[in-house]
Amino acid sequence: MTRVTQLGPAAIAEAAQLIREGLPVAVPTETVYGLAADAGSAEAVAAVYRAKGRPPGNPLIVHVLDRSQAEAIGRFSSDARAAAEQWWPGPLTLVVPLHPEARIAPAATAGLTTVALRCPAHPGMRALLESSGRPLAAPSANRSGAISPTSAAHVLQGLRGRIPLVIDGGPCAFGLESTIVAMTGGPPRLLRPGPITFGEIVQGTDGAVPSGSEGIEAPGQFPSHYAPSKPLRLGATDARPGEWLIGFGAVLGNDSLSPSGDLAEAAALLFGALHRADASRETVGIAIAPIPETGLGIAINDRLRRAAAPRPSGD
Ligand code: TXA
Ligand code: MG
Repeated sequence: MTRVTQLGPAAIAEAAQLIREGLPVAVPTETVYGLAADAGSAEAVAAVYRAKGRPPGNPLIVHVLDRSQAEAIGRFSSDARAAAEQWWPGPLTLVVPLHPEARIAPAATAGLTTVALRCPAHPGMRALLESSGRPLAAPSANRSGAISPTSAAHVLQGLRGRIPLVIDGGPCAFGLESTIVAMTGGPPRLLRPGPITFGEIVQGTDGAVPSGSEGIEAPGQFPSHYAPSKPLRLGATDARPGEWLIGFGAVLGNDSLSPSGDLAEAAALLFGALHRADASRETVGIAIAPIPETGLGIAINDRLRRAAAPRPSGD
């Protein structure tokens, strides 16, 4: 059975106890809800893969309280250190070489010699890191391939009965997963666009901004991901018969991401809007208005393209 409990000291104490017992717990972060487990325990990490139905080749992000905890797990170049100094705690994940003495279950990194590290800002996730006293492997708290959860209700839709506890901390402020940048030698590479743009991150480093597309580098960055169950049509200015229209700016719909055209508001509401569109019984498809390809719009369009991509069969 899955219990939902409001974020607070009692919830954190209960969650930390479950973590110490090797069980995964859903917890809010400033980006999306995460499914957290002891990153040092092979059994706990296996339980995360199992609950999500996640393919074993897709590594998890390891969450830490601060840079010193991170540097016991990964090797930081001066660029990586500068980026962490500037953006942590916050929605930036750094992929760095795995420290040879890191006490991380190999399954957490899917056996890679690199590790994805993130220092979250959300008080709920931070309290759990502190109280459990260990680094926490935490992918988004959804079934593999589905839309990321930005509320406790979304977590339940996907994982009810599969995990013991969901900590409800209300809606997530950013609503999009963290930006992932690899700093493993050579120039920094953008692996997943997110709330902080690549330009903002590399400004503080020596690395040159790569030109052109970065391609698929993160093992989990399959073209189809973040998918609703109904087909999704992008760049729509009106609804076709049977479609639920998600508006933005001047395009009004069944729902709007932001009537005023505010990209931060749109990012925060995006996954909730997709969940609602998917749940509507009167429609068989989803259409969404064009979103400008600037600032946060880059990350929003990245998620939308994946949500609209053809699915591999069986997922
Ligand atoms: O905002 C976030 O990052 C959320 C919250 C919960 O922190 N987490 C999240 O985790 O989005 P997840 O597992 O849904 O996405 C992690 C991504 C995957 O695409 C995975 O392939 C990539 O990070 N990743 C993890 N370790 C990696 C590594 N060593 N090298 C390259 N990519 C890696
Ligand atoms: Mg995910």
